[in-house]
Amino acid sequence: MEENSINQGDLVLIYLDDKRQFLIQVVPKLKLSTDLGDIKIDEIISKEFGFVGKTHLGRHFYCLKPTISDLMLKIKRKTTIVYPKDLGYLLFETAIGPGSKVIEVGTGSGALTLFLSRVVAPDGVVYSYERNEEFLENAKKNLEKIKYKSRIEYFLRDVAIEGFIQKDIDAVFIDVPEPWDIVPKACDALKGGHHLVAWSPNVEQVKKTVEVLQSSNFIRIKVCEVVQRDILVRERGVRPRERGITHTAYLVSATKTKV
Ligand SMILES: C[S@@+](CC[C@H](N)C(=O)[O-])C[C@H]1O[C@@H](n2cnc3c(N)ncnc32)[C@H](O)[C@@H]1O
Repeated sequence: MEENSINQGDLVLIYLDDKRQFLIQVVPKLKLSTDLGDIKIDEIISKEFGFVGKTHLGRHFYCLKPTISDLMLKIKRKTTIVYPKDLGYLLFETAIGPGSKVIEVGTGSGALTLFLSRVVAPDGVVYSYERNEEFLENAKKNLEKIKYKSRIEYFLRDVAIEGFIQKDIDAVFIDVPEPWDIVPKACDALKGGHHLVAWSPNVEQVKKTVEVLQSSNFIRIKVCEVVQRDILVRERGVRPRERGITHTAYLVSATKTKV
């Protein structure tokens, strides 16, 4: 079982209130300054997750284990990222789990890579493709901080031109502006009977992707949008929040028929 104490190098979510949440990596002598007071990180080393401390101004803070969503949303972004609300659905449209070998394109900022590496851990592999070197280097740095990930192999290449190296893959995840160019390459890489998912912000992109899927070896083509509504729970009335994430992307899933 994973131990619950806070050690050097761990990622900890320091929570003061909903507006003041800080994802930090534990480094001795570090000081976190907030408008509610300073926190000496030395004071939380060797404590258990869940520890409640006080800032130098006497305000409480809580040391929490970051959720996968916390980790994804706090990574350094050089691109747009896949949002947590879409990931559950995308996962259910594939047949992957611990030990699976999956492909994603593009790596972007590494948010999806992080999620996939958790899903296929401990002995699966994520093959992550990106054509922009700067983005790839940023994603690698983001992922180096995360513990307990499975093997991730990175490839700097334009998949629309050069395709994927691997074959017999359990699922292909596509997050690029032109997914339809990747569909034939995904078809070559996927195992028969296995699944592809792609997501795009615009309907025009979805239409083009679906047309290419229909003319390739894919069936069970589905398109959906996941809508998340956060609910305010208050004494004076419970109702949806006015603001929040509205549209992120349309999700396309399909299954390859033949090997
Ligand atoms: C929206 S971002 C991906 C974000 C990523 N899924 C995440 O969650 O952080 C799209 C990425 O795809 C890359 N890309 C676009 N077309 C590509 C191609 N043909 N081959 C490889 N990478 C590509 C872009 O450089 C960009 O970094």
